[in-house]
Parts: sequence; structure tokens; C-alpha cells
Amino acid sequence: MQARIRKLLKQRNAIMLAHNYQPPEIQEMADLCGDSLELSIRAADTDAEMIVFCGVHFMAETASILSPDKTVLLPRADAGCPMADMITPVALSARLRTTPEMPVVTYVNSPAAVKALSTICCTSANAVEVVNSLDTDELLMTPDRNLARNTARHTTRKIHLWDGCCPVHDRLTVADVAAARAAHPGAVFIAHPECRPEVVDIADAALSTSGMIRFAAESDATEFIVGTEVGLLYPLVQKIPGKKFYPASEKMVCPDMKKITPQDILACLEDLSGQVKVPEDIRIPALAAVTRMIDLSR
Ligand code: 13P
Ligand code: SF4
Repeated sequence: MQARIRKLLKQRNAIMLAHNYQPPEIQEMADLCGDSLELSIRAADTDAEMIVFCGVHFMAETASILSPDKTVLLPRADAGCPMADMITPVALSARLRTTPEMPVVTYVNSPAAVKALSTICCTSANAVEVVNSLDTDELLMTPDRNLARNTARHTTRKIHLWDGCCPVHDRLTVADVAAARAAHPGAVFIAHPECRPEVVDIADAALSTSGMIRFAAESDATEFIVGTEVGLLYPLVQKIPGKKFYPASEKMVCPDMKKITPQDILACLEDLSGQVKVPEDIRIPALAAVTRMIDLSR
């Protein structure tokens, strides 16, 4: 299967990108695995004619925003993100009508049409940098209330919230972390900024998924409790042999990130199904918000 997929990728001049939460067999055959920011930058820079995006819908949309001339394939049309579904352009427009004018910072985990209404995008890797780059005293951050509250700890700007969250990260409690620490005394606890603020407060570091991989590789510690989706355990173990990694909670599973199978990838490469294309009237304003972010983070 892997050989057939790699052959078709070559024939189609396609690149395969996979998020760090994807199943091991998908990460193994991808050209690049990474966090949302790394994958966005790679999608913007590639010379390939086609991008097979192994992640969720908003990630394929971001690739389409950045590379309108490329064919972007999402091998499973139903791989979505419940947090991205917690905001719509209609709801954001309604909120903006009743809010004093201020910049809107939108997490990439959002629909393209919401990015199109935003000043700038951010990811978990650059949210603090993005917020602090704005020449403003107040801003609205959408759609993740946890990322917004965690970012507010690192800025003097007043951040107004959108009441969305990632159900997978919001599920992790202080009690779960205490239980994991009791089971693994001395292990370092790393949390994702999509976790609740009270969970991030007790973490040794709060980082994006790739930030966690770099942190664990560079740290003197040898054991880590990992406060993010359990799929990250695979690249951690692969890239950092000799260190031990424990999930902060077995509950942290994102079903959408587990939908794509090698069969789905083969099928979409054969018949070019699963194309994701953002219409130009949405793409152009969304591109401005995404490009501002990428220019800041390069
Ligand atoms: P990052 O890999 O950018 O940290 O994103 C986490 C996530 O939830 C993606 O859906
Ligand atoms: Fe969305 Fe959370 Fe799943 Fe990431 S882990 S795709 S934010 S639901």
C-alpha cells in the first residue's frame, strides 16, 4: 500500500503533509509531519502541483487559501474539527456589529470564511507573538476561549473571548494531571495551549505539538506527561528514543484526526476525489489574514 501511494504521489507531482496527530501508518509515509504552523508554511512554499493533506478540513482549506493553483486533496471529506464548527461567518459578523471596532485574531482551527473576516490568524505556536504584534489595546480572539485565556497571561492587551474550545483538550482536568503525576513522579508535564487555563497553570511548559517534540528532545528530563491528543505519542517516541512519554489522559483522542486510512489516500490519488477549494471571494481576504501570520513567523 505504502509503495503504491508513494508511486502515485510521484506520478502526480504531489506532496503529502500529515499533522502530528495522524495515525502512525500515515505519518510514516508523509513527506512532512508537523504542527499547524509548519504545515501551513510548507503548503505555501511547495513546488508540487498537488497537496494531499492528512489532517482535518480547516488545514486543507488553509492549503487551498495559500496555493490556489494547486489541487488540494483531503482524503476524508468528513474529517472536520468540532472547534472550527463552533464559529461561523454569520455569527462572527453579528458579534462584530455589536462590538467596538478592534482587531480580530483567529486561530487557524476555523472556517476559511471566518478567517476572511479576521485581521490576522494565529496558531498555538505563535498566538502570543501575533497578539503582541498588534498595535491595539483590545482585540477579539476566536474561536478558542482556552487559547485566548492562556495568551492573555502573556500580554498587556485586553482579549475578548469567543466561547469555543477543542473538546479533546478541554476534557483534560487538573485531577487527571494530578493522577498522572502520582503515577509518574518526577515526570515533566507539558500542556497544549488549547487546554484549560487551570491545567496550563500547573504545566511545566505550554507548547504547540511540534514545540512539545522540540522541548522534550532538548530537555534534561527523561519522562514526560503529554497534555495533548494521544497521537503525538507516536512522533515523540520515534524521534526521541530513550525517553518515556505518558498520556496525561487516555480520554484525549480526536476521532476526526483518526479517520484517514491508507486506502482513503490511495483512492483520492487515483480518482482525485476529496478536492478542497476555497472560492476566490473568501480566499482573497482569508489569504491576507493567513499571510500576515506567516510573514510574522517565518
Ligand atoms: P498544533 O499542532 O498546531 O499544536 O495544533 C493542534 C491541533 O489541535 C490541531 O488540530
Ligand atoms: Fe479540532 Fe481539537 Fe481535533 Fe485539533 S484535536 S482537530 S482542535 S477537535
